[in-house]
Amino acid sequence: MILDNLDAAAADPILSLSVACRADERAHKIDLGIGVYRDNQGNTPVMQAIKQAEARLLEEQNSKVYVGMPGNESFNAAMMDLLIGEGESKARSVGVQTPGASGALRMLADVIKLSAPDATVWLSDLSYANHAPIMKTAGLKVRYYAYFDPETKLVNSQAMLADISQAGANDVVLLHGCCHNPTGADLSFEDWQAVTELAQKQGFLPFIDIAYQGFGDGMDADVTGFRYLAERVESYLVASSCSKNFGLYRERTGLAVIVGKSLEQSNKIKSRMLECARSTYTMPPDHGAALVDMILRDQTLKQTWLDEVDAMRHRVQGLREQLAGALREKSGNPHFDFIAQHKGMFSVLGITPEHAQALRQEHAIYLVDSGRINIAGMQEAHIDYIAEKLLAVTGF
Ligand code: LMR
Repeated sequence: MILDNLDAAAADPILSLSVACRADERAHKIDLGIGVYRDNQGNTPVMQAIKQAEARLLEEQNSKVYVGMPGNESFNAAMMDLLIGEGESKARSVGVQTPGASGALRMLADVIKLSAPDATVWLSDLSYANHAPIMKTAGLKVRYYAYFDPETKLVNSQAMLADISQAGANDVVLLHGCCHNPTGADLSFEDWQAVTELAQKQGFLPFIDIAYQGFGDGMDADVTGFRYLAERVESYLVASSCSKNFGLYRERTGLAVIVGKSLEQSNKIKSRMLECARSTYTMPPDHGAALVDMILRDQTLKQTWLDEVDAMRHRVQGLREQLAGALREKSGNPHFDFIAQHKGMFSVLGITPEHAQALRQEHAIYLVDSGRINIAGMQEAHIDYIAEKLLAVTGF
């Protein structure tokens, strides 16, 4: 009978860690699993700019009537400004507000499937744990291009370009705009130039996932490589998130951007995307987008927000340096120095799933089995303990 045939789904490798950590009764537990920014007291406060915008919204909003299938179009335009800047491709770009960036990834995957049912999406090896499930659920094929060098813990550019040079007109190449999840190893500007050249030559569709703008080198600096590509390829797609840089995690605020050969083509694709949205959730939730729109369009609020993101970025960079320093001092070798070179919230440590499990079971340190730690979830008081236990389980 219907419903009798289902086994339980496998636990999500990231979200299940939060549940397990919450249930752990050890007082010294440390959650370095899910990608959430925490301050030095372990809190994820609502950002000041958001608080101020919420107060204003409460005062000014006088209806909860439906917004429309593309969501808040003013938010869509302001977010595209933040991403694309004044680039030429902006004139061909259209945005659709989505329930988080996962929603954007899925809606964009659905239109790829509609347009090219046999398309293959190339993901970096390693990539965000939800990329392959989203693409496969949309019916797309997935392949991996070499990316993370387990020796240097940086990007293996040569191997990456060799793999991407096999991608052609029926392929999509998914790139992380900045602050690579999970590795923390970012493309250099030269890498972006080389990928752009391949996209021009081979005709694959670049698909940029950008969830951490502002956490790497700064709000504009983080999109330099992406903008270089955006101005030189015929078409591209972007999935963008407000979860981290606006701290709007639970509000599910994301954006899908479609840039076709012409505005007419982009709009045609947008209409197909809205058709997919209509048959899934109809329209996205409004609250987060209304706040982001207000912040991006008010100079004072925007400055408050930019300052807050800068402060988070500096704190995470400081934690990276402290952790790398503690590991060097305790082990007497520079093995983990790469942590200070990585960008954004995460670093992949190059440890085995068994090491990650030992850290969790024996020392109450929660990190993803891929060896990814959320640096942005650490407190300064944790650093010595984390360094000590990491060295103890890995033997470095
Ligand atoms: C993460 O990678 O931890 C975050 O992006 C949360 C998520 O949705 O997986």
